[in-house]
Amino acid sequence: MKFLILLAQAHLDFRLTELKALSDFYKIDADFSSYSTTSPFLVVDLDSSEEARKLVSRSILCRSVYELYASGTSVEELHEKTIRNKSQWEKYNDVKTSFKFEFVSYKGSRDQQEQIKIIESFSFMGLEGPIRMKKPDVTFSIVEEYIVKDSKPEELPKRVWFGRFITDSDRSAMDRLDLKRRRYIGTTTFDAELSLVTCNIAQVSPGKIVYDPFCGTGSFLVAGGYMGALTCGSDIDVRMLRGNGKDRTIDANFRQYGIQNKYLDVMTMDFTHNAFRNNLFFDAIICDPPYGVREGLKVLGAKDEEKFLGKETVMIEGVAAHLRKDYVPTKKPYELYALLDDLLAFAAIHLKPGGRLCYWMPVANEDFKEHHIPLHEDLKLLSCCIQDFNKWSRRLLTYSRRKYGEKGESQHVKGTLNEEFRSKYFRGFT
Ligand SMILES: C[S@@+](CC[C@H](N)C(=O)[O-])C[C@H]1O[C@@H](n2cnc3c(N)ncnc32)[C@H](O)[C@@H]1O
Repeated sequence: MKFLILLAQAHLDFRLTELKALSDFYKIDADFSSYSTTSPFLVVDLDSSEEARKLVSRSILCRSVYELYASGTSVEELHEKTIRNKSQWEKYNDVKTSFKFEFVSYKGSRDQQEQIKIIESFSFMGLEGPIRMKKPDVTFSIVEEYIVKDSKPEELPKRVWFGRFITDSDRSAMDRLDLKRRRYIGTTTFDAELSLVTCNIAQVSPGKIVYDPFCGTGSFLVAGGYMGALTCGSDIDVRMLRGNGKDRTIDANFRQYGIQNKYLDVMTMDFTHNAFRNNLFFDAIICDPPYGVREGLKVLGAKDEEKFLGKETVMIEGVAAHLRKDYVPTKKPYELYALLDDLLAFAAIHLKPGGRLCYWMPVANEDFKEHHIPLHEDLKLLSCCIQDFNKWSRRLLTYSRRKYGEKGESQHVKGTLNEEFRSKYFRGFT
């Protein structure tokens, strides 16, 4: 059966990766070879409308999906093909099945009278059920694509499709989780749309356990919780985790969205001095590591270790200062690329086989080379999606934990870039 997927014209480089992650998650054998990076229309062959519903209903970068009865360049062509494909739609034709027709137009439209004329031209279907504009049993959709010339849409569409509406996607989730209305956010909070897309690519789902080692204000935790997973995080900066008052905390965000039962907890911890035991496993690790623009990349330790160790122990009220509860340990700067090596090594130990690691990596475009992508022998690199900001970009890298015993290539990236992203960013990449 053929289906028409209507895609959002946003984050074009992420759309196919999200769809592939969802088809892999639901074990749907879908051929996306007709996908075009620039078009919002994608025709796919699937076994059933149930598969189409599964594939699209939790997607963020799809808009909707239709069971396709006909496609062409004119309404007349749609009529001809719809008659030929009668067996597909006649099952929806009985006196009890309510229906409606709708137009879905891209970059142009027809006036209402013309729309009514076209809808009436489908009377050859002989539909006998009642017409219901709200919540009908079946919606028949006429989808049109117009071409814009000299900033005006042409009079007639370039392509048309006719079919049965199956489902909308979950794109409205990005409004529900919109940062403008979120109780607790900070300068590092990740936008709702891409947090949700990241979770879909990580195949986050109910019953899974998700960990964000640099969770800050908890953007990925909330998105993961929204998708039904149990979420936990850690951050070196306790202020991020505490929030700014009673109703401005990560916990308050979970309560705001009614998903407090999806929040395991967060803890203050330096990722490079991780406290987890080695037999603790996660289904997904999702994060936006610190790259030093709005937050420092610091790890526990002293810049000058020798000098530090040579100092006399400070005593407060008879107790060594570093053994007191209120002791704030010293920190030293660290390199992002070394942290990425650490992240992959951690994921290799703590992900279940098949579990996914998704992290964002900022790069100055002119500097970026393939060998800057870290590889670990236990992790398979699945995709690299690019969000381009002209001189720099953020890349979402996704890996899956290989089966035990299966080995791939490894590539350490510590020290591959001699200038940190941060200094280039502040110089304007000149
Ligand atoms: C880009 S921010 C991630 C923000 C987060 N996604 C959010 O929703 O706010 C990186 C975070 O890493 C934290 N961080 C920096 N160094 C760290 C370390 N060594 N271990 C753990 N967290 C660290 C920072 O405090 C910051 O909150």
